Amino acid sequence: MKKINELDLNEKTVIVRVDYNVPIKDGIVTDDNRIRQSLKTLQYLLEKKCKIILLSHLGKIKEEADKEKNTLKPVKEVLEKLINQNIEFSSSLRGEELETKIKNLGNGEILLVENTRYLDYPNKLESNCDEELSKYWASLADIFIMDAFGSAHRAHASTAGIARYLPCAAGYLVIKELEELEKIKSTEKTLLLGGAKVSDKIGVIDNLITTSDFVLIGGAMCGTFIKSQGFNVGNTYVDDEKLSYAKKLLEDYKSKIILPIDVVTENGNKEIHKITENETILDIGNNTIELFKKHLSNSKLVLTNGTMGLYEDEKYENGTKNILQFLSQNSIKTVVCGGDTASAAKKYKCDFYYVSTGGGASLEYLSGEKLPGIEVLGE
Ligand code: 3PG
Repeated sequence: MKKINELDLNEKTVIVRVDYNVPIKDGIVTDDNRIRQSLKTLQYLLEKKCKIILLSHLGKIKEEADKEKNTLKPVKEVLEKLINQNIEFSSSLRGEELETKIKNLGNGEILLVENTRYLDYPNKLESNCDEELSKYWASLADIFIMDAFGSAHRAHASTAGIARYLPCAAGYLVIKELEELEKIKSTEKTLLLGGAKVSDKIGVIDNLITTSDFVLIGGAMCGTFIKSQGFNVGNTYVDDEKLSYAKKLLEDYKSKIILPIDVVTENGNKEIHKITENETILDIGNNTIELFKKHLSNSKLVLTNGTMGLYEDEKYENGTKNILQFLSQNSIKTVVCGGDTASAAKKYKCDFYYVSTGGGASLEYLSGEKLPGIEVLGE
């Protein structure tokens, strides 16, 4: 993979694909981590007196009405403060307005272009990696830098597409993410998994279980594992197609996989054999919190993805909050793979060794899959 520092960038026009798919509420960015994490690459390009064109998606655009609520304008304001300079903004993703703004860009100036997924409605040009669009964007610059680690698992026009038609390299965020995630693969660790779907985690479990001491399973996904053992899980979502996978995994790795012994439902704390037809698993129970802590306390490294319960609701945040605070307060080396767990860590003011900016991307990478946005950067 070619790296940013291996290219001659002096005074070049550079497209940087960043992942500014950040949470925005009432026009305000509520978590600027992804923007901060892009600064190292931007500062490097500014030192090289580049003209910088930033491309990013935000949310999903399925109809015209999705556009307004997914504009990147609030990101421009945050970036201006963080980088301490004015940022130009182009509402057009192609055509005269965009081209004139690029022409007028001076060395050391930055242009943020509107959400690339605006071009997903009505023709899905961005998400289908439209060739003409990829070539058009590539024609606007000399060099392409891929720094959107969170989108590296997407083969879209603004990720893998442009890279096919320009000299390209990985930015500093992508380089850092891959280094951290690569280390995890071979290091002895404990996996702490949660969230809703077993299917999202199968690749990670299969790829990492031999190098893991324990796999602790909470969140709604534990319902599938508990049911595979013959217990009633009431209304809890069950990945029916994965029941036999869960059963076999538990047989093969009996001593490694640790399931909840109690959970929290609408009716409070329950041992798992007492869950009734009308109940839902909404959090891990008090005894499970202690059980998980015991296994985590001796871990050299913890890799976590997915929350222990419906933490957005105070009634069901205990498991997620307690476990994250335990890891943070005891300085247990923990790598958080993006998504909900990263938001929960922020909510409970937990500091961790490494918080990846990629949810889906880091899971796919840790599953051993190739990321199209990285593959295109060469061997
Ligand atoms: C993410 O938040 O995981 C990335 O920005 C990718 O977003 P997407 O799942 O909408 O492609």
